[in-house]
Amino acid sequence: MRTYHLPLDLVRERPPERPVALVRPRSVSVAARWFQDNLKADVFYAVKANPSAWVIQTLVDAGVTAFDVASLAEIELVRSVSADARLAFMHPVKSRQAITRAYFEHGVRTFSLDSHDELQKILDATGNARDLNLIVRMAVSADGAAYTLSGKFGVSPDAAPALLLAVRRAVQDGLMGVSFHVGSQCMRPTAYQAAMAQVGRSISRAGVIVDIVDVGGGFPSVYPGMVPPDMQEYADAIHRGFNEMPVSETTELWCEPGRALVAESSSILCRVDLRKGDALYLNDGSYGSLFDATHSRWPFPVKLVRDGEAADDLRPFQFYGPTCDSIDHMPGPFYLPADIREGDFIEIGMLGAYGVAMTTGFNGYGEHDIAVMEDAPMASLYGLAPRSIPTVRTTAEEQARKVVRLSRPKGKAGQRRRKR
Ligand SMILES: Cc1ncc(COP(=O)(O)O)c(C=O)c1O
Repeated sequence: MRTYHLPLDLVRERPPERPVALVRPRSVSVAARWFQDNLKADVFYAVKANPSAWVIQTLVDAGVTAFDVASLAEIELVRSVSADARLAFMHPVKSRQAITRAYFEHGVRTFSLDSHDELQKILDATGNARDLNLIVRMAVSADGAAYTLSGKFGVSPDAAPALLLAVRRAVQDGLMGVSFHVGSQCMRPTAYQAAMAQVGRSISRAGVIVDIVDVGGGFPSVYPGMVPPDMQEYADAIHRGFNEMPVSETTELWCEPGRALVAESSSILCRVDLRKGDALYLNDGSYGSLFDATHSRWPFPVKLVRDGEAADDLRPFQFYGPTCDSIDHMPGPFYLPADIREGDFIEIGMLGAYGVAMTTGFNGYGEHDIAVMEDAPMASLYGLAPRSIPTVRTTAEEQARKVVRLSRPKGKAGQRRRKR
């Protein structure tokens, strides 16, 4: 991977034909350090958020030795970087072959489940291994998260006590645990504490001792219009929740952050292949790194990367990706200089999580290059850049605001109106 100081240095050297993931390994190390220093928990990186070898290597170098994996491919990826990493197979539904190969070929000992049938499957596929760590995934409320992750997986509070008891009996020399996921991009730290209270009630009803409480992922990042509370509030809520749980002194606390470890670290450099009015046709799109810009309509922050002058006036643009599918559309609005044109490059920020991870090869697109950047990310929860992404206004919008302000009645009548 080549290293550049700024994205513009890369464009100046050789305008790239394919989209380029601009990666900032330092921001992954800084985020990892934050978790290690502030959360009294074992950190399992959720590989699905960004399964790039450079991410795994950076985390290993930063002292993260445990990984939440969801498939054999993710297991093989982590093993190719670190032969002795701790792997937890946290997908609650796995094939028999995947369980067998994970256990016998890759040394995986930790598996999650949310049903009696999956428990039996894990026992069968490992030959009733004595050293299994079995984690029961519980369904919890996902209020306050941008993506709910309890709809598909997790045993309900009603069914949980029987499953907890069955798993406690099945575990021999290993550990028994509980896990949950409060939903991704969780904007409410207290959601963790509430989930822990709910899980605690199920543990009490089952009358079991658990060895592991795994609070999952869900830790947020910064996107336009979404500035999460300070990360310390998440750590505090989790520590409070853990203290209030019916657990023993030796119970371990685990977490599985994905987004919060990698979101800031990468942006995507893409090219404008055509402009039609306010629509820019790019060489990356919703089948590439921009899944969330389409399906969640997230207006990721953007910057023009042009070797030369650009108009001061910003305008709102929408993007289209390179495939022939009309769903390949990112409504934005993305604010860019009014004179943007074919051949220009755009850096789209905050795409380190669920960006390149979502890429498909549909229509022959989806390949990308990687380059290391030395500059700061566009925003940061760990002090590397501003904590928020400013809302952009066009000159026309700014003037309209001024007109509104000037026309407000002064004196008591104006104050009365403002109060309402
Ligand atoms: C089991 C599990 N753990 C962790 C994560 C990571 O979540 P996040 O990226 O919100 O931290 C996910 C995301 O889907 C997950 O399914």
